[in-house]
Amino acid sequence: MNIQIRPMGEGDVDTADRTFRVAFGTFLGLPDPSQFMGDAGFLKTRFKADPSAAFVAETNGEVVGSNVATNWGSVGFFGPLTVRPDLWDKGISQKLMEPVMQKFSEWNNAHLGLFTFSHSPKHVGLYQKYDFWPRCLTAIMIRPIQGEKASPAMAEWKFSGIPQSEQIAVLKECRGVTGALFDGLDTTIEIDAIAQQHLGETVLLWSGSRLDGFAACHIGPGTEAGSGACYVKFAAIRPGAEAASNFDRLLGACDALGRETGCKVVMAGANMARSAQYRAMLATGFKTQVLGVAMEKANKTGYNRPDVYIIDDWR
Ligand SMILES: CC(C)(COP(=O)(O)OP(=O)(O)OC[C@H]1O[C@@H](n2cnc3c(N)ncnc32)[C@H](O)[C@@H]1OP(=O)(O)O)[C@@H](O)C(=O)NCCC(=O)NCCS
Repeated sequence: MNIQIRPMGEGDVDTADRTFRVAFGTFLGLPDPSQFMGDAGFLKTRFKADPSAAFVAETNGEVVGSNVATNWGSVGFFGPLTVRPDLWDKGISQKLMEPVMQKFSEWNNAHLGLFTFSHSPKHVGLYQKYDFWPRCLTAIMIRPIQGEKASPAMAEWKFSGIPQSEQIAVLKECRGVTGALFDGLDTTIEIDAIAQQHLGETVLLWSGSRLDGFAACHIGPGTEAGSGACYVKFAAIRPGAEAASNFDRLLGACDALGRETGCKVVMAGANMARSAQYRAMLATGFKTQVLGVAMEKANKTGYNRPDVYIIDDWR
C-alpha cells in the first residue's frame, strides 16, 4: 500500500473530520460511529489554530487518517491521531507520528505528552515506541452549572471585553501565570483561537491589576464543547497561598459564563497528579465522565505536580 503523509490542507478537513469520528466511534463501539462527539469536534478548530501542525495520510488520492500537534511554548502534545478503521494495523499511525515528532523538535518543547485510552494495550504500546510512558489518569469531569442567580457583571472578566490595544499586555499576563507554573508554558494560542474563531470566551481572574488566573473556554456546537457545555480547554491559577481560593473563584466565573451563554454543564479536565486541583473539583461537585491516561515523554512529570492548579486534558 502506498501511503503518503503530507500537511493537511483546507480541502482535507471535512474528510479528516469524518475519519476522526468513525475511528473513535468504531473503537468505542458506538452504534453509529460517525456520530462520535455529536456537534462537538477537535479537527476543524485545531487546523485553523495552526494549519502548519496538522497532517494527513493519503492513499489512492483519499485521506485516510490525520494527526495534529499543539504548541504550548515549552510544552507540546498531539492528537487527535486517527486512521480509518479498515486500514488499522498497517503502520499508518506510525507514519503520522513522524511529522508530529518533527514539529516538536522544531518547536524545541521541553516537555511532551498525550492523552489516550488507559485500558488499550495497543494505544499504550504504540506510544511507548516514541518514549511516551503512562503516568497519572486524567479525568474529564462535568458539573451542572451552579447557582440560579444572574451572572455578575463580567465585562472586565472577559478577554473579549479588553480593548484591542490592551490585549497584548493581557496575553503577557497570561504567560506570566503559566510560566510561574512551568517555565515557558504558553497557552495563548488557545486564547487567540477562541477570539479569532469565536469559539467561546477566556475568563480573566483579576486582583486589581494582577492576573491571578484565567480559563480559556469553548462554548456550544462546532467547538470542543458541543451543545449545552462550557468546556474549559485550559485554565491556570498563579501559584501561592491564595491558589486554592482563586481556583474556586475561577470555577465560579466559568459557571457564570456558562449560565450567561445558556449552557447546562461545565466540563473540565484534571490530571490526577495535580491532586489538589482534582480533589477541589471533586469537593465542588464535579463528576468524572471519561477517564484516560496522560503519557509523558521520557516519563517526566512536566507540570503535573500536586500543587499545580491547571485545567487541561491533552485530548
Ligand atoms: C490508535 C490508532 C490511531 C492506531 O492506528 P494504526 O494505524 O492501526 O496503528 P499502527 O498500525 O501504526 O501501529 C499499531 C502498533 O500498535 C502496537 N500494538 C498493537 N497491539 C499491541 C499490544 N497488544 N501491545 C503492545 N503494542 C501493541 C504495535 O506497536 C503496533 O505497531 P507494530 O506492530 O507495527 O510494531 C487507530 O487504531 C485509531 O484510529 N483508533 C481510533 C482512534 C484512536 O483511538 N486514536 C488514538 C487516540 S490517543
